[in-house]
Amino acid sequence: MKCLAFISTCASLLSVATAHGGVGTYTIGTTAYKGWQPYNSASGQKSIQRQYSTFDPLLIADLSKVQIRCNNAGALGTGLSATIAAGSTIKATWTHSGCNNWDGAGKVWFKIDHQGLVSGTQNAGIWAGDAIVDTLNWTTTIPASLAPGEYLIRHELLALHQRNNPQFYPECAQLIVTGSGSASPPSSFLVSFPGAYSATDPGVAFNIDGEAAKTATSYPIPGPAVWDGSSNAPQQPEPEPQPTPTTLLTSAKPEPTEPSCEVARYGQCGGLTYTGCTVCAPGSTCRANGDYYSQCL
Ligand SMILES: *[C@@H]1O[C@H](CO)[C@@H](O)[C@H](O)[C@H]1NC(C)=O
Repeated sequence: MKCLAFISTCASLLSVATAHGGVGTYTIGTTAYKGWQPYNSASGQKSIQRQYSTFDPLLIADLSKVQIRCNNAGALGTGLSATIAAGSTIKATWTHSGCNNWDGAGKVWFKIDHQGLVSGTQNAGIWAGDAIVDTLNWTTTIPASLAPGEYLIRHELLALHQRNNPQFYPECAQLIVTGSGSASPPSSFLVSFPGAYSATDPGVAFNIDGEAAKTATSYPIPGPAVWDGSSNAPQQPEPEPQPTPTTLLTSAKPEPTEPSCEVARYGQCGGLTYTGCTVCAPGSTCRANGDYYSQCL
């Protein structure tokens, strides 16, 4: 199964009262997809969003746990995925209180979008999260060049209002990306969860009340560089503070391809019981042809 991994990281400065929450709705075009309801009974619930159990944050002590990936303990999907054309947008709407058989493991995630400090100083400036507090919405474009397939999209808020105690709020949803793209990010853009962040990353070991934060006008967003949709993307750009805030897009990336095999055009590359090579010859893409069979088209 090809899985789309999407990360949207919004470093955010949220108040304690409004910080706890999760993505409650995904909107693609005019269609709204309701997120998982963590405080309702799981019985009978179906959502494109992966199951999770609480609006509480994950903390530094959780960075090595599987929960940092999609905010669950590895629970798989409930059968639904949303279809989205590459190049179009997906809007995440947060609520606060308060690839169906794939758990997202491995170095398969790539970032298509993130934003941190927008203007001003770390201590008193405007952060991306402020816009989310105002609107609850964050809209991201799926790179038009992205190869079609099944992907997980991971949205995350990172709340920094307590010094040296960042709070991570990730959730994931299942997407089926359509389109005629053939791009996927090079391995230098790929990370795994857990593994993508460490407690010593400058954006994680972060004191928003420290002396340095009163003058610093950029913030080093944790995680990989953003992939802009080019299949020939350069090596990872500077991950450290930039002189001016920028909005970056990360692109989802399928599982790394094995260079050791290749399926000819029209050959089988996937399916319910298929165990062979899943890499299509250049110029063709592995696509579902019915529910149980995929071929290089
Ligand atoms: C956020 O998105 C939702 C869902 O599309 C929409 O109903 C709402 O008006 C948006 N909020 C703002 C402030 O734009």
